[in-house]
Formats: sequence, C-alpha cells, structure tokens
Amino acid sequence: MDTTAHLRIDIDRLQHRLADLAAIGAIEGTEGCARLAFTDEDKAGRDLVVAWMRDLGMSVTVDRIGNVVAVMPGETETAPVMCGSHIDTVRTGGRYDGNLGVLAGLEIVETLKTAGITPERPIAVAFFSDEEGARFAPDMLGSLVYVGGMGIEEALDIEGIDGAVVGPELERIGYAGAAPVPGLVPHAFVELHVEQGPVLEVEDITIGAVDGVQGISWTEVTVTGQSNHAGTTPMHLRKDPGYVAAACAAFVRSLADDLGHPQVGTVGRVEFAPNLVNVVPASATFTVDLRNTDEATLQIAEERFHEFLHTTAEAEGCSVETRTLARFEPVIFDPAVVQLVTDTATELGYSVKQMPSGAGHDAQMLARVCPTAMVFTPSVDGLSHNPAEYTAPADLEAGANVLLHTMLALTTISFEEPSDG
Ligand code: GLV
Ligand code: MN
Ligand code: MN
Repeated sequence: MDTTAHLRIDIDRLQHRLADLAAIGAIEGTEGCARLAFTDEDKAGRDLVVAWMRDLGMSVTVDRIGNVVAVMPGETETAPVMCGSHIDTVRTGGRYDGNLGVLAGLEIVETLKTAGITPERPIAVAFFSDEEGARFAPDMLGSLVYVGGMGIEEALDIEGIDGAVVGPELERIGYAGAAPVPGLVPHAFVELHVEQGPVLEVEDITIGAVDGVQGISWTEVTVTGQSNHAGTTPMHLRKDPGYVAAACAAFVRSLADDLGHPQVGTVGRVEFAPNLVNVVPASATFTVDLRNTDEATLQIAEERFHEFLHTTAEAEGCSVETRTLARFEPVIFDPAVVQLVTDTATELGYSVKQMPSGAGHDAQMLARVCPTAMVFTPSVDGLSHNPAEYTAPADLEAGANVLLHTMLALTTISFEEPSDG
C-alpha cells in the first residue's frame, strides 16, 4: 500500500515563508522584491533560507560559486532526488520567480518530516547562484558551473554591470563555499516555477508539465561615434551612436515580427554617454535578448541582427563592438519525467498541459547531467520580472503538491544508464 498517497503540503506554511523571504529587499508599495545576485539583500535572503534548512535538520553545503544544497536523508545513501531553483531576483522582481521552487522544496521536506516519512532516496533542495544574470551575465551562472558547463575560475572573474566581480562579491557576502564544482549529480531534478507567461491562465489550466526551454542569445553592443553639439552639428555630418541604438531596437522588434512566433526579441538595457539633452552621444551600450525554441531560426535571428547592426553603424560612421553575454541552445527535458509530472497532476485532479518554457531556468542546466523536468503554475496576467507578479494560493498549493508527489515517485524509479556509443 502506498502510505504517501494522501500527503499534501501546507499552503499557509509555504505562504509564510514566501512572505518572509519577500520582506528582504521589499520594493516599497509593492509585493515584489529586489535581491540582485551577491548583494547585501541576496546575502540576507540566503541567510534566512539556510536557517530554515538547518531548522529542518537538513545538512547544508555551499559550493565555490555559492550554490547551496540541503539534504534530507533517505532510507538509502544513494544519489538524491533534487528540487530547487534560485532566490536572487531582477531589480524589479516578484516574490515567486525562483523563490517558489526553493521554498516549496522546504515545504515538502517539512511535510515528510511531520508525517514521519523517510523517502527511499535522500531529498535535496538547492538554490543556485545568480540565476537571473541581471547583475552578472550569463544567467543560470550557478547551475551552469554546478554541472561543469563553465570553469570556476572563469565564473569568479565575471564583472557585473556595476563593475563588481563575482569572486570578491561571494567572499564579501560569506558564500564562497568549499564544496567542489561540478557538484554532486542528482538521481533526477524537478523545478517548480511560476510560468511567467499567459498560457496557463488563458487556457484555464492549473499545471504546466514543462517539456523544454527555448534557446537564449544575449549580446551587449557598444557603438562609438563622435560626441558633438546637438544644436550646431548638421544631421548629415553626425556620427550618432544614439541613432544606431534606437534603429537597432526598432529592428529587433520587426525581426521578431518577421520571423513570427515563437521568436521574441528585446532591447532591455540602453546606456548613452554622456546622456545629456544637448549632446550627440559619444557612445551607446545596449543589450539584445533573442530567444526561440528552434535553434536554426535563432541563428537566423542572430545573423540578421548582426548584419543590420554593422550596416547601420557603418552608414552612420560609427564603430561597433559586441560581446556575447549568454548563449544557450534550446533544451528538451526527459520525456519520462515530463510524463511523470503530467500523470501526477492528473492523479491529483489538476488540469495539466505539456508546454515549453519561455524563460531560462536552472533546470535547463541540470538537464545536462540527470533526468529533469519542470512544473509550472499560472501567473496572473502573465506578469513576471515585475513586482506585480502574482500566483493564486490554490495554484501555488497545486504546484507544490505536484512537486511533492513527482519527487516521491522519482525516489522509487530507476533510469536506464545511457549506453556507450
Ligand atoms: C532568466 O531567468 C531569464 O529567462 O531571463
Ligand atoms: Mn526564475
Ligand atoms: Mn527571473
């Protein structure tokens, strides 16, 4: 007899933890928060979550890039079933993005402990460093290093948008841990996350069984021209980086429209120097975020953007430098784990649909080393990376229950080793 089938998480406990964590770096007058990676606010959030992990009797390790992994022992000393996500936020973050996946993990551990259940395998709950990439690119930095996708020395040397460097910032906040990277390979990984888009809400579906993540291409462009007087310089004699940046931003929109769904394109950060009303800028620095579920189309988008950038800058007499901030190909999750999430949601009585993720997630990195999938819950009005991000308590509860039972099932399932050759 399955003695765990009746188990359900406690939504009030989960909501309390979400609120307590959101109080750190709270954005006044909103429900959201700002805890950019490796800032004082990130440190305070980390300290709180680590204290909760210890209160639950979990053993906590911190690795060299500041990823935190907490383990609840199982019946056997085998590789754990891991869940988790991130607790850093963008500057205009909501309280659910990332935080839900980590705190739901703690809620699952508390539910099991309260019921006196020891799972067959250990359960690990992780939060990975700098998932957002908003201060230090690339995004998913901690999980990328965790799976061996970037060497630790390269990661520690990354400079942020404010000139700070990852290594010294990790030391400063006390999270330059000793655990080695790449880290322990889990038996399987499942990440619960808010959808951050409109699909589930529009279709009135409670659970997304996420079958993959679209490819991400981030480029930082710096255009340099000739700074001059805005009143005296005739238009045909200008070398105006501001104009080139603006033309590129408009081009990114028309490029996405032209390639059609699911291509998306965003110019999210623009900085002019000297940024004054009556001065033709000396330089413009801006970022381009292009994403698609299809790698070939994403490459076409990149090529067409670069062609437009160089042609436009040259015609304006400006020079261009580009820097790749992040480049990840689309990821397909393990079909067996995606199906398990789907079946678990159905068994619990929730409507469910298989769907890709538009946002980047730590799960896409873990998928490189172990069977992985994600659970999505609806986002009201599809809003995220916005303090107004909101998911109804009943949906949070549904998502956490699906995570609980998916993880319990994973503690008893064995996966075939990939065969050589
Ligand atoms: C990161 O989380 C992203 O999708 O931008
Ligand atoms: Mn996230
Ligand atoms: Mn995010």
